[in-house]
Amino acid sequence: MTGETAETNAAERRRWNDERWTALWPKRERFTNAVTPRLLDALALAPGERVLDIGCGGGMASIEAGRRVSPEGAVVGADLSTPLVELARRRAHEASAGNISFQVVSFQVVDMQHDQVPGAPFDVAMSQFGVMFFDEPVTAFANIARHLRRGGRVGFACWQSAERNPWFFALALARFLQPVPPPAEGKSPTGPFALADPERTARILRDAGFSDIRRTAIEFTVDLPEDALVDDDQLAFMGVADSDMTDARRAIDEHMARFRLGTDVSRFPLAIQIFEARR
Ligand SMILES: C[S@@+](CC[C@H](N)C(=O)[O-])C[C@H]1O[C@@H](n2cnc3c(N)ncnc32)[C@H](O)[C@@H]1O
Repeated sequence: MTGETAETNAAERRRWNDERWTALWPKRERFTNAVTPRLLDALALAPGERVLDIGCGGGMASIEAGRRVSPEGAVVGADLSTPLVELARRRAHEASAGNISFQVVSFQVVDMQHDQVPGAPFDVAMSQFGVMFFDEPVTAFANIARHLRRGGRVGFACWQSAERNPWFFALALARFLQPVPPPAEGKSPTGPFALADPERTARILRDAGFSDIRRTAIEFTVDLPEDALVDDDQLAFMGVADSDMTDARRAIDEHMARFRLGTDVSRFPLAIQIFEARR
């Protein structure tokens, strides 16, 4: 690891390494599992390719990519979070106990904004919602480009705007939460909608040295239990005080009512976009 400073991406580093948050993650990641086949199909991974999965989290998409590049290829999942990388390693180990060999999938704890991941050059850099948390996005994407062979491709899924993703319940909770402090001078805001503006994201990719930039907007629905998105532990982690919990639950209940199909399942509309580019 060649981390720039301890302060790089400090807030995101704290959040993604917090045991309370990472304990919730297996519930949360169900919300975006349906994105994986769409992203991997867009990337058209071929057997034998070498893939870097940025912000791999619990490693489900890395393992799925491993199936597509097996048996000669390799996937390296790279993530800022030690506990999520541990989860990813456990899952890859369990997957290799099945009938497919996952010696091809490995994981590294790194900050993709500055660190070097062993195994470069890669044919493909992919990410499922793992590239919106860089406080210097051009620096980070330039670092990603350096991990690719010339002509190699990047492809990532990120959210369209919050307005197009009405499941985003944080706005309903605003009165119970501390406002997010503005980024330090020279840094960019981070978070789920940080790459929502297509023009800005294309500019970041261009400034980082990518070309042939393409964007595909995709909208679809997922049917899931509501706790794939929010539950009491999530509210507590977000900072809702015990004394506000009843009112916050009521605000969430009102917000979520529009998605409910029955008592056990809700239908959420997701608006994502897949960016692809070449080094
Ligand atoms: C929304 S999660 C997505 C995880 C996984 N790709 C998925 O789809 O379930 C974002 C991931 O990006 C990781 N991340 C955030 N900033 C990062 C950075 N600077 N370098 C590497 N990983 C980062 C987080 O630790 C987290 O696992």
